[in-house]
Amino acid sequence: MKLTIFAATGGIGRQVLEQALAAGHDVTAVVRNPKKLSGQARIVTADLADADPAMLESAVAGADAVLSGLGPRSNSEAGIAAQGTRAIVQAMQATGVRRLVVVSAAPIGTVPSPGRPKPPKHDPGDGFFMRNLLSPLTKAALRKRYADLALMEDVVRESGLDWTIVRPVQLTYKPLTGTYRTAYGQNLRRGLRISRADVAQLMLRVLEQPETVYQTIGIAY
Ligand SMILES: NC(=O)c1ccc[n+]([C@@H]2O[C@H](COP(=O)([O-])OP(=O)(O)OC[C@H]3O[C@@H](n4cnc5c(N)ncnc54)[C@H](OP(=O)(O)O)[C@@H]3O)[C@@H](O)[C@H]2O)c1
Repeated sequence: MKLTIFAATGGIGRQVLEQALAAGHDVTAVVRNPKKLSGQARIVTADLADADPAMLESAVAGADAVLSGLGPRSNSEAGIAAQGTRAIVQAMQATGVRRLVVVSAAPIGTVPSPGRPKPPKHDPGDGFFMRNLLSPLTKAALRKRYADLALMEDVVRESGLDWTIVRPVQLTYKPLTGTYRTAYGQNLRRGLRISRADVAQLMLRVLEQPETVYQTIGIAY
């Protein structure tokens, strides 16, 4: 497939890039710092906080799918997930590219956003410990980042594109296992961690699974 990968220098993005190249896909990597990359991909440089629409359109034109590992590197960068994803969506709409896969986070199903002002109070996949302890704590600590991701999800859901949103639990740098649980529209009971490599594998795998279009997918071991 012809793939465009945004944020291919990030933890997940780099894994998506490496696995896509290893699978023989024709890859365009869009990054803000091309010095961080080397390899067989065509590289397009764009800071998604201030990207030239024509540049993004040329990066996605003709792609079978667009994958994004975009996210804020720090709390001060919170806002970039929604802003950058909006720019990606606009470039796809302008060029007629339809398939989009993005990364959100497990707690976002219960985070309010303009598009989902009254989400469920608890994720149906979360058990007692997650509902009452871990989820409230992480939501308090990462409030700005989660608001950004919730808004990003609105942008994706309202895009009219063929989208899939992947919602991982806590990320690790452990190796690819290929053995993990997934669930549509909810988190996984007692699932606490997942490697970036396995998230990347799921992001590529869903491209061959039409039933994952318009789905939000929880992933954990
Ligand atoms: N950490 C967790 O446990 C966890 C759990 C669940 C979900 N998540 C979500 O998953 C996302 C991906 O995780 P990760 O570990 O792969 O993130 P990461 O390593 O921090 O990667 C973020 C990527 O976004 C890029 N980026 C940020 N601002 C940009 C901008 N203005 N223009 C272009 N690119 C920009 C970064 O580029 P540079 O390389 O140039 O900085 C990097 O490639 C996180 O951001 C978070 O929203 C995280």
